[in-house]
Amino acid sequence: DLMQQIERLEELFTIPTEDLKKISAHFASELQKGLTEEGGDIPMIPTWCMSMPTGYEQGTYLAIDMGGTNLRICEIILPEEKGEFDIIQSKYRMPEELKTGSADELWGYVADCLQQFIEYHHEDEELDQVPLGFTFSYPATQDYINHGVLQRWTKGFDVDGVEGKDVVEPFEAALKERGLPIKLTALINDTTGTLIASAYTDDLCRIGCIFGTGCNAAYMEKMGNIPKLAHMKLDPETPMAINCEWGAFDNEHKVLPRTPYDIIIDKESPRPGQQTFEKMVAGLYLGEIFRLVLLDLHGNPDCKIFENSDVAKLKKAYTLDSSFLSAIEEDPFENLVDTHLLLLNTLDIDATKPELELCRRLAELIGTRAARLGACGVAAICKKMDWSSCHVGADGSVFNKYPHYKARWSQAMREILDWKKEQRKDPIEIRAAEDGSGVGAALIAALTLKRVQEGN
Ligand code: BG6
Ligand code: GLC
Repeated sequence: DLMQQIERLEELFTIPTEDLKKISAHFASELQKGLTEEGGDIPMIPTWCMSMPTGYEQGTYLAIDMGGTNLRICEIILPEEKGEFDIIQSKYRMPEELKTGSADELWGYVADCLQQFIEYHHEDEELDQVPLGFTFSYPATQDYINHGVLQRWTKGFDVDGVEGKDVVEPFEAALKERGLPIKLTALINDTTGTLIASAYTDDLCRIGCIFGTGCNAAYMEKMGNIPKLAHMKLDPETPMAINCEWGAFDNEHKVLPRTPYDIIIDKESPRPGQQTFEKMVAGLYLGEIFRLVLLDLHGNPDCKIFENSDVAKLKKAYTLDSSFLSAIEEDPFENLVDTHLLLLNTLDIDATKPELELCRRLAELIGTRAARLGACGVAAICKKMDWSSCHVGADGSVFNKYPHYKARWSQAMREILDWKKEQRKDPIEIRAAEDGSGVGAALIAALTLKRVQEGN
């Protein structure tokens, strides 16, 4: 019956303390492995962002933020005052068709949005090579900071002819075609942007994290700890921001407790075998995991949920996003009336009270697992770096909007790192970053120009 099914799901989705510890320990060794010549699952990409901001960076910059959901164009002014910034921005929808279209269409669209932004905000002005920071939030191997070869698309993108090639070159060509007076100064990842923007206003920030459509982190390493860059013969103390691309953690399937539903998600995705960790924790997948479980239970002769409803809508892949689960978890009513309406309006499903309770519990299980696994990654970086206390800057729709995310994440950190209950404050604290990808991109462009001026 339903109760038994709930118990089975609890078993499948709950990760006890001991397992969190094991996962986190393996995670730490995989981070280390990614820095070596032979490498491992986690790419650990050197970003050529080689200093933390002082808080006194200045100037006017453009930024493009191409994440998973939106495209943003920003103009950022860094004034004289420490840690301050002004930003104007426009958001553009990232049309679904673009995600599986051609490379020319993609770069053309991004360049068109940039052109619109400039025409709107700088009508009749002569712009002169304004430095641009491009936040391109996919794994890109960088030989230098204004270069990046896309290793593979993630987050459901599948645009032909981009993987394995430098993304800067065709994008600059699209700018040139439009006669835009813009110089791409830095190609960055959203995690690096989040790290640098958070450090701009918070001296204790050591890690930048995204818990959004995708999931990833960046932190500052020392050259001396990056064996795969030993051939560069740089001062071992030189800092280097590393874009972990930890979504790829455990592609070898050694420690993550994958459920049959996680396995289906992977199989049906455009890149099976990739981003094992991300597919269990990131916003793009939470609603889909939920949908697959419900569909499975509907077809299960032992419990037969939604028997009297037409489940045609529930059969459509990726119809539910993580905001659907957020709404269920936020339903304030004992009898779950909001959830009832939500299922009715979105899926044409008229659920009974026990079915609604199952939905609520399932959302909690999926949301809690995501937060607890997310904590494993941060705990792993801290363990690897031997940081016993620091701040973590975080961004992304799951972190900012999913109910109880932060509390569940912090609870998992306490369990993994054995923090005592009596401690009044957690030694590793996660905080919402203020616009990492806009301000972060501007700051990294500023730091890059300074480095070039100083001849380093
Ligand atoms: C935004 C950042 O706030 O969060 C983006 O500006 C980032 O750079 C994004 O990619 C991540 O969240 P989501 O939920 O949009 O993937
Ligand atoms: C995916 C991308 C990564 C990005 C993350 C968060 O994991 O591969 O580059 O940082 O999503 O947006």
